[in-house]
Parts: sequence; C-alpha cells; structure tokens
Amino acid sequence: MTDLAKLLAAKAAIKEIGNARRIGLGTGSTARHFVQLLGEAVAQGFECISVATSIETEQQAKSLNIVLKDLDEVEELDLVVDGADELDADLNLIKGGGGALLREKIVASKAKRMIVIADKSKMVEHLGEFPLPIEINRFAFATTTNQIKNSMRELNYNGELKLRQTENNEPFITDGGHYIIDAFFSRILDANRLSSALLNIAGVVQHGLFLNMCDLALIADDNNVTRYEK
Ligand code: 5RP
Repeated sequence: MTDLAKLLAAKAAIKEIGNARRIGLGTGSTARHFVQLLGEAVAQGFECISVATSIETEQQAKSLNIVLKDLDEVEELDLVVDGADELDADLNLIKGGGGALLREKIVASKAKRMIVIADKSKMVEHLGEFPLPIEINRFAFATTTNQIKNSMRELNYNGELKLRQTENNEPFITDGGHYIIDAFFSRILDANRLSSALLNIAGVVQHGLFLNMCDLALIADDNNVTRYEK
C-alpha cells in the first residue's frame, strides 16, 4: 500500500474536525500525515490544543507549533485521530506496531470520539494475523512472558511470543519504560476474553486490543476513502 492512501485518510480526518478544538494526536506513519496537516492548518490560523500519544508525535507537533497539553490538563478531548495495525468490521483494533499502545489507549480513553485512519490493507476479517503487542513491566519479564504463554494455552492458542527488539538486537523500550511482547495468534477468536485474561496477569501493563473504542474509521486506497461508522 502506498503512502498516498495514508495521506488521503489523514486528509479525510482533517475534514472531520468540525468544532473539535481539543485533539489527540496518534502515532505512526499515517497519524504523522494527520499531524503534518494539522500543523499546516495551525500555521494558517486554526486554533486548537493537542495531546500527543508518544514522544515522537510530541516532537513532530512541537516542530509544527501545535499547542501541546498534558492529558491531565484537559477535562476531555473532543477527538483523537490515530492509525491502526488491524481493524475488523466491528471497528475493533490491534494497535501498538509502533510501540505507543499504552499512551494511545490512555489518550483514546479520554476522547469523546476516536477516528482511525488507515490504508485498506489494515482492514481484516479476523484480528490476529498482525502479532498482538503486549506491553509488560521489565521486572521479571520472563515470568510474565511464561504467564502470558500459559494463559494463551488455556484459551487454546499456541502461537509464538517474541520480545520486541531494536535494530541493534536490544530490547525495545516503550515511552513508559516497558518491554513489548509480540504475540502471534494468527486468528483471535474471542477478543474480549483474551483481553481480560491478559490484563489479569500482574506484569502486563496493557495490550494492543482496542475494543469498542473506535467510532469512525477512514480507510483509503490510492483513489478513495471509505467511511466505516459505528
Ligand atoms: C503505534 C500504532 C500505530 O497507529 C500503528 O502501528 C499503525 O502505524 P502506521 O500508520 O505506521 O501503519 O499503533 O503504536
């Protein structure tokens, strides 16, 4: 999928802003287009305040003179615009391919509306082909990994678990200082059950299943953007 589709999805999200003035900024290559376009709007006089979902997005927004606030400083956000690694027909998502899932989920939880922008390769019949990112505490991470493995077995999944690594073969560290385990499910059958099981493990900080959070998905190919609304 080309970058053009991502850009078209981001342009469509700009049109969704309407009266929103408190805007959450997602992370990743698609969200990056949205932040760039928002920055261009700000340069032309559009006034808003934003909350970033990662250090990377924060730096981009700052470079574009977008006014940034901490999430704690705002009562709520009018909307958040973010990318996704997979989304199904019910607008349930897998996120965290870029490692920002924890802040992304916290920010989305305080937004009245979550808009997902993606190219159409992200739309799937069943979640799970994309490995599910699971953010875990660094303390005793092997213990947590084993507990995730056991929990997966109990739910009849036998996929692999991989500690995410950087290009230098060092563990990837999230903005929150945690590790990420990528869990290979192939196909997630009951996302709610899996979500609860994972959150029940003491060392699991959060996972990349975003269930019943997305209100609108703007899915693009190189020519058109299709709206999927809840
Ligand atoms: C980062 C994310 C991203 O939104 C997701 O990985 C999609 O990224 P991209 O737009 O680059 O495909 O969840 O944690």
